[in-house]
Amino acid sequence: MAEKAILGFLQNNEEITDSGLFSAEFNLDHGEVVNVIKSLHGFRFIDVQDIKKETWVLTDEGKEYAAEGSPEVQLFLAVPEEGSISKDELERKLAPSVFSIGWSQVGKKRWVQMGRQVSRRVQHVEDKVKDQLLQIQEGKEVDKDIISSLKSRKLIMQQTWTGYSVKKGPNYAPERKKVATDLTRENLQNWKELEFKEYNFNAKGAPLEAGHLHALLKVRKQFKDIFVQMGFEEMPTNNFVESSFWNFDALFQPQQHPARDSHDTFFLKAPSTTRTLPEDYVERVKRVHESGGYGSRGYNYDWKREEANKNLLRTHTTAVSSRMLYALAQKPFVPKKYFSIDRVFRNEAVDRTHLAEFHQIEGLICDRGLTLGDLIGVLKDFFSRLGMSKLRFKPAYNPYTEPSMEIFSYHEGLGKWVEIGNSGMFRPEMLLPMGLPEDVRVIAWGLSLERPTMILYGIDNIRDLFGHKVDLDLIKRNPICRIGI
Ligand code: PHE
Repeated sequence: MAEKAILGFLQNNEEITDSGLFSAEFNLDHGEVVNVIKSLHGFRFIDVQDIKKETWVLTDEGKEYAAEGSPEVQLFLAVPEEGSISKDELERKLAPSVFSIGWSQVGKKRWVQMGRQVSRRVQHVEDKVKDQLLQIQEGKEVDKDIISSLKSRKLIMQQTWTGYSVKKGPNYAPERKKVATDLTRENLQNWKELEFKEYNFNAKGAPLEAGHLHALLKVRKQFKDIFVQMGFEEMPTNNFVESSFWNFDALFQPQQHPARDSHDTFFLKAPSTTRTLPEDYVERVKRVHESGGYGSRGYNYDWKREEANKNLLRTHTTAVSSRMLYALAQKPFVPKKYFSIDRVFRNEAVDRTHLAEFHQIEGLICDRGLTLGDLIGVLKDFFSRLGMSKLRFKPAYNPYTEPSMEIFSYHEGLGKWVEIGNSGMFRPEMLLPMGLPEDVRVIAWGLSLERPTMILYGIDNIRDLFGHKVDLDLIKRNPICRIGI
């Protein structure tokens, strides 16, 4: 309706000078006319210019009086034509605000005799306020004095009215054809008759309500891809529960080591102990702890089987590595490159950087005659694939590796060296009881998945990354991939 009227009018006339007057003349709703103007302007059918006018509109109170009459007239009409009414009764007949406002207004106008008894002084009054309000409501011009008196009574307020003046635009046509917006079969069959809407390449697509990967999963995939590219095989890590034997003893970690305390490790109540261990290997492990062998003096203490049997939540994925190396030693030797990325548990106080569970990334290479130089070379290769090529190594201690090195990387963003992992060569006291050939060396390294993920995604509190406080929106907003730690 409105569109036809506007385009039709412009066909014979230069200009629509005021959309408000135009709407009134053609009996159209101005809101609808404005919508059509905006849409036609978008397609450059028309050129438009804003018109802003200050107008007066009724307040809620003003609207009420326009409908019900002014309080003074309501009060006047409540006074009987003849005789009188008590002030109390009059008050009861009217709403409290109508009574109080009406009372003061009739006083000024001297319409009634005011006292304990109220009676009319005139027989007829006009409701000028109501009439004036109705005029304003209809958009009619009213006198300045009236405006200021209604304004002071807070019955009207100023409002900016926006309309438009309209002329033909560069794409003007007397009629707007509905443009086709979809490439349907029918539309393609009739393409010659149709006009297609142009593509808006700047428009954002509708947000996809699809699943989103958690940052840890994305970074895990990046690490996994790197290992796979470097020819590593993934180790089976599908057992969170492990025996102390594989988690500690097989790794030549003495039974009185502080990490084996319940302050640091979660032990299981049920089942509290493991059922089976390879007995002949257990025997060799016991011996190496107690009295050494293979060129070692051992720890010289009384090794207890009950301690080794205790079940726990694995404290590192190196438990899986020890099982895998033992299995490897049971067959004729072949070199291997193994990796794992999975969850481990430590009985720690939770803070900004620590949780009681986290993920470890571990890589190991097992071959004859490997050296510390090989370890450094592999680490440089591995970390440079993550965008970390400035590395430094610091001597460290692990019960199961010798030598051991902490790995540091220079973080350009933070402008400092940050520790990124731990590494070493597994000790002969660990490898030889398993049955691996004497010249076989195992180089290995481990790091957490959380730390690089926090650096990559700019998260400084681990509880924002993992656990019940994680904001799902953060997961949705995170970039698909980040490179360079
Ligand atoms: N298991 C070690 C840790 O918990 C990491 C590591 C793995 C160290 C392999 C050396 C070799 O931190």
